[in-house]
Amino acid sequence: MSENHIYREDFKKFSRKNPYDEKLKAFDAFVLRDEEAETHKGAWSKVFGNPNPLNVEIGVGYGEFMLEWCGNNPNENFVGLDHRFKRSFHLVKKLEKIENKNFRYLRGRGERIEFIFGENEVDNIFYFFPDPWPKTRHNKKRLFQKPFLDAAHKVLKNGGTLWVKTDHDGYFEWMNDALKDETRFEISLKSHDLRHEYPEHFLSQYTTKFEKIFLSQGTLIKALVLKNKK
Ligand SMILES: C[S@@+](CC[C@H](N)C(=O)[O-])C[C@H]1O[C@@H](n2cnc3c(N)ncnc32)[C@H](O)[C@@H]1O
Repeated sequence: MSENHIYREDFKKFSRKNPYDEKLKAFDAFVLRDEEAETHKGAWSKVFGNPNPLNVEIGVGYGEFMLEWCGNNPNENFVGLDHRFKRSFHLVKKLEKIENKNFRYLRGRGERIEFIFGENEVDNIFYFFPDPWPKTRHNKKRLFQKPFLDAAHKVLKNGGTLWVKTDHDGYFEWMNDALKDETRFEISLKSHDLRHEYPEHFLSQYTTKFEKIFLSQGTLIKALVLKNKK
């Protein structure tokens, strides 16, 4: 089966073999696992009990951005997702302690956003330091490609934004290639060296766990800000 089966409506992976899956279940007040996450499409305002803006992070990792952003924006909603079980569990224990639950955490994949969110439901998508899949034979596993852009275009509102940061030159080039014939997004920022070119920018105000490592190694942070056009 092709890699793109992950994007298909009938895709059901949802392995229950990982011991952390059971552990995540204990946090079901704010954690949704796989298919559970796909039952609120178009109805996230009901989940949160308010019509506040909806922000989504793909590949939350250890959650630095999610934790800081949610604290800074108590009047907006946030859905963070990552597909690694153990990493999810560690973050969820921290999230549990936060009183204002203006967030939900999904154990799931970025490839599924079209099935998780309704059309025009999302204000912002954050995609920071994704796995670069550097080997040529693995490039096809990169999330940022046409099916993902199709889905992002659909779920983002008109003027909604896709925010991207990466350490990886090859993946950054790949993203720019994927955008070459795109008319559905306006590139409002493109930088090969975010921190020096745009030190005051919103994207420079937050430093994720992986970003700290890359900065300490002197790696330039590449960034894209894409405005959705409808
Ligand atoms: C290199 S880490 C970066 C984590 C975090 N964004 C940061 O900057 O510290 C990439 C994260 O993305 C997650 N990830 C990779 N591919 C994903 C996908 N298709 N859907 C959801 N999460 C994914 C991985 O599990 C991992 O936690």
